Amino acid sequence: MAYLTKLAGALGWCPTPSSNRSTIESESSSLLASLLTMAWFVEARDPYTGGHLWRVSRYAHLVAKRAGMSGAQVARISLGGFLHDLGKIGVPDAVLRKNDRLTEEEYEIIKTHPSMGARMLAGHPLADLVQDAVRLHHERPDGKGYPMGLAGARIPEMALVVGVCDAFDAMTSHRPYRAGMPLEKALGIIETEAGNQFDSRFAKMLIELGREKELDHVMGHSDEGIPLQHCPNCGPTLVLTKRSQAGQSLYCRNCAGQFQLISRDGGLFAKPTGRMGRPSDLEPELDTELVQRNGQRGRCSFAQR
Ligand SMILES: [Fe+2]
Ligand SMILES: [Fe+2]
Repeated sequence: MAYLTKLAGALGWCPTPSSNRSTIESESSSLLASLLTMAWFVEARDPYTGGHLWRVSRYAHLVAKRAGMSGAQVARISLGGFLHDLGKIGVPDAVLRKNDRLTEEEYEIIKTHPSMGARMLAGHPLADLVQDAVRLHHERPDGKGYPMGLAGARIPEMALVVGVCDAFDAMTSHRPYRAGMPLEKALGIIETEAGNQFDSRFAKMLIELGREKELDHVMGHSDEGIPLQHCPNCGPTLVLTKRSQAGQSLYCRNCAGQFQLISRDGGLFAKPTGRMGRPSDLEPELDTELVQRNGQRGRCSFAQR
């Protein structure tokens, strides 16, 4: 998750020259850290989509950059990508962690997450930075999206970028009931749906990036240089971090299976031990080290944004 550290730095687009700069800096970095922590709650609750927020954030960053947006806009859209599914915190486990296709009623429950996320975020002092991504990432240019059914130019750019990147990651990620699509198939669907489900301009950019192999280091990864690994027993993602090392134990938070990390082919491989983890082993891990690092390194003044 070193990417988030860079993101926090990139958000420092307006250093303040005032005498109370250090106070403002530390306040703004604490606020940013609290936003990032909120995003982590979502990742911690859903064992099936490990790294989804990071990947959507990375894809959104690449598309916004290709669109020629300013550094501040790119950083803001990346942050929106990381926060977009915040409202899933409020979706019941039986729906969020279901390892089968959703029924129509369950899908209706999932569809509440953009509004729920917007309400949860509303009290945060930095809510404005990412509110469009959280509330509107399932809107569609043809007006058939939710929760508002906005169409065309009424959908903010941040929501359009995050929307196409979110769908691309959903298509190319494995689920317990289906394998992720190959890159070209997912890009073909985005091409077909450009102008309907997805914004034509941003869809075109994502397709270009995909065909130029610029998405390869993100697709199938949960962090830079960390390929996704899946529990062979039940399917969910085993989340490795930059701090993971050979010899460490790792647990599937769905089936409780224990794995040991071993070095293989220059990377780490999770080998099943045949043992089960205790409840305390299965607690979701918040990357507090990352959040603290962001808080310390934050150099931005949101007071002047
Ligand atoms: Fe979503
Ligand atoms: Fe999502």
